[in-house]
Amino acid sequence: MGLFSKKSFTTLFSDLEANQDFKKTLGATSLILLGIGAIIGAGLFVRTASATASAGNAVTWSYVVAAVGCAFAGLCYAEFSTTIPVSGSAYSYAYFSLGEIVAWIIGWALILEYALGAATVSIAWSEYFNTFLKDFFNTTIPYEWCHSPFQHFTDSNGVYHSGIFNIVAVFIILLITLLLIKGIEESAFINAIIVIIKISIVIALIAFGWQYIKPENYTPFLIPDNEPTVYGHDFSGWRKHGLTGIFGGAAIVFFAFIGFDAVSTAAQETKNPKRDMPIGILGSLAVCTILYILFAHVLTGLVPWREFLDPEKGKEASVVYAIKHGMGSGYLWLSKAVTIAILAGFSSVVLVMLMGQSRVFYSMSKDGLLPSLFGDMHPKYKTPYKANMILFVFVGLIAGIVPSDQTGDLTSFGTLLAFTIVCAGVWILRIKNPDLKRPFKVPMVPIVSTLGIAVCGFLIYSIDLFTLKMSLLWMAVGLIVYFLYGKHHSKLK
Ligand code: ALA
Repeated sequence: MGLFSKKSFTTLFSDLEANQDFKKTLGATSLILLGIGAIIGAGLFVRTASATASAGNAVTWSYVVAAVGCAFAGLCYAEFSTTIPVSGSAYSYAYFSLGEIVAWIIGWALILEYALGAATVSIAWSEYFNTFLKDFFNTTIPYEWCHSPFQHFTDSNGVYHSGIFNIVAVFIILLITLLLIKGIEESAFINAIIVIIKISIVIALIAFGWQYIKPENYTPFLIPDNEPTVYGHDFSGWRKHGLTGIFGGAAIVFFAFIGFDAVSTAAQETKNPKRDMPIGILGSLAVCTILYILFAHVLTGLVPWREFLDPEKGKEASVVYAIKHGMGSGYLWLSKAVTIAILAGFSSVVLVMLMGQSRVFYSMSKDGLLPSLFGDMHPKYKTPYKANMILFVFVGLIAGIVPSDQTGDLTSFGTLLAFTIVCAGVWILRIKNPDLKRPFKVPMVPIVSTLGIAVCGFLIYSIDLFTLKMSLLWMAVGLIVYFLYGKHHSKLK
């Protein structure tokens, strides 16, 4: 068996029939809620403001660009998840269409997406947890214990602060891990409540904020070519100013869309995946796209975007900053409600990301590419609890020591790589297995799938150079692990 050997569909469908590992409890509504639970999070509430460092006020357009790429990929995910309804998501799709080595590469990239995604959002959680403590109890956790050792700043009194370990981020990861071990039904219920709170707050912010938009905050719309360095941000380089800055911004806010694909990892827990998967994936993506574009428009209209780069102004907890300084003291209630909704909202993102990751690990271990303990199910709760515990250690360490901008950009790389391969996979599988039953079909293949590859590929190119180098390093480590372990233990072999 070679590196490109594929799994057979006959065994897949009989295996799926026989597999009793998961409980089938989810329907279309739960899937949309699961999707929104994973989608709306730090991307919207934290990275919109960071992306202004590339796109300026045109970050709203960055959202449009990122949404287009996600829509193409979303269609491809919908086709795959109905054709191959397994919990391994992109990893499994590649296994059937492109072969083992590509599947491994995707599986390894998905660790960047889900595990580092969870780390990124837990770090954002720690930022807002401090805002919560300040607003409600007039206290904060010392800077050292809610920042990574690579973060530091000197405040306006000249005092130097440096992070040691982000304990707050680890705390939320621990809570969610325990919930996940308990079971998907409980997790889905809590997720549904959080999603309702989260959407209500986004809509409230758009509705109340709209009347406080100051048109002068939108000029200049794009970052000028000669913009001087502010707070350590320099604007030289094609992705960091002007019209092309919109793409740099899109690569950053792309993070905000990640999660609709995580819906597909729940395929084995869905009652009727053939009907419900496309509704879950595309429905959650559509709702979020509309909300994001409106939200970005309001946020950048409330305060000048440069204030989002100032560590003592809007750099952390940017949304609360914009409400306080753009809408005035009459909206303190909104800023408090936003803080609570954001804390709850980020928790649901971490939840779906960690859940998605453990399901991908489960699939990889069933295929023999990872040790079998990743697939061990809890005898009572029927969840891959060992995978959850290993993940806690891995994600906790990263969240404790790496800053969120880095983990976030790596997350975007992993996801974009997976999206690109999924788009290619749809097309290839159409050619190789034209007769396979496809309850949902991407329209106009190969045009749509090629556009998906092009947009996602271009967004990868728009990620900053340091992240690209780190990502390639991660992928190289993955290949070494495959040749040392996976290749020899593969069930296909
Ligand atoms: N889309 C998720 C977020 O923005 C990952 O937090």
